[in-house]
Amino acid sequence: MTSDPLMNTYKRQAIDFVRGTGATLFDADGKEYIDLLAGIAVCSVGHANPAVAQAVADQARELVHVSNIFGTLPMRRLAEKLRSTTGGWGRVFFCNSGAEANECAIKLARKAGSGKRYKVLASLGGFHGRTLATLAATGQPEKWKGFEPLPVGFSHLPFNDLRAFEEALDGETAAILVEPIQGERGVIPATLPFLKGLRALADRFGIPLIFDEVQTGIGRTGSWWAFQHLGVKPDIFTSAKALANGLPIGACIADEPYGSVFTPGDHGSTFGGGPVVCAAALAVLDYIEHEGLLAKTVERGRYLEEKLRQLSGVELVRGVGLMRAAELTKPVAFEVVSKLLQEGVVLNATSDSVLRFVPPLVISESQIDQAIGKLGAVLNKCST
Ligand SMILES: Cc1ncc(COP(=O)(O)O)c(C=O)c1O
Repeated sequence: MTSDPLMNTYKRQAIDFVRGTGATLFDADGKEYIDLLAGIAVCSVGHANPAVAQAVADQARELVHVSNIFGTLPMRRLAEKLRSTTGGWGRVFFCNSGAEANECAIKLARKAGSGKRYKVLASLGGFHGRTLATLAATGQPEKWKGFEPLPVGFSHLPFNDLRAFEEALDGETAAILVEPIQGERGVIPATLPFLKGLRALADRFGIPLIFDEVQTGIGRTGSWWAFQHLGVKPDIFTSAKALANGLPIGACIADEPYGSVFTPGDHGSTFGGGPVVCAAALAVLDYIEHEGLLAKTVERGRYLEEKLRQLSGVELVRGVGLMRAAELTKPVAFEVVSKLLQEGVVLNATSDSVLRFVPPLVISESQIDQAIGKLGAVLNKCST
């Protein structure tokens, strides 16, 4: 029997973090790290954000769980607040993760398709989660191995190839599901003509356009939702990751008629919409508003982009707001990540030549400067 009581699902780094504040993390020896990862686009309002901590503590003393057989104030408030971020549309289903939020979206589309329309068109390279249906929606065949047969009805077309989607659509198609920016694949933005074309296709076929905003949402691109700066409205979109700054929550938000497709018994979750996570999420959304973090994200994102472009060893920089990737001239990304960790910078590689930058939105310019200085030095060593 192996001595590790944890299942072998992640290649974990050798560091355990014990504390964090803003965009800074500390290990057990008190060593400081600048965090350019935010727990993979999660801790957007900063580690151990005091406003979120206070909201969690207050709510935990008040009421923690009653089941979805009853309503609670935090859940109702959060649904209203999320609706305000869209400009007034959307009914919300709360769950506990991004995968579950996407499961909800897929079930909504299938129910709306009345058994006749069941297929989902998704993108090659897209990522939607690890449950069986969201794994089937994920366009990365290497992740399917060992788990087949997967649920049927999912097909994957080249991202940004409108014609391929158009050709794949038929009378059995229930939905189109895409990320506005493919995060796990290395921050690949959808083109505007592609998204507008998908919108038109969905309208023509009377099916929902679903955006997976699990990684792009909650201000990461400088607007509440990536679709807002793109100007292409989905019928359904999903959120998770940054919504409660690290507490487990997911949300599927649907405009009419899809928001009213479920009836009691169709879908559910024991923990979804629990008072504590909803109180945390409300504190996150309030914090983003009060601190003007959307506008700051645009500014700091540009600053980061500029700094990255100046580095030798960086071929190109892509992305929006504080969701960026640097494509390297050499396949040294994983080496760069481990060397930088030793230098006190937390970063992540999505492939051997792509570094991904999704820091807390509260990161300061001086932290960006320090981290980029260290990255530059490491890149110089690794690319020679
Ligand atoms: C775009 C996207 N969708 C869905 C997921 C799955 O979210 P979770 O890990 O919370 O299930 C992720 C996670 O990385 C993601 O980036």
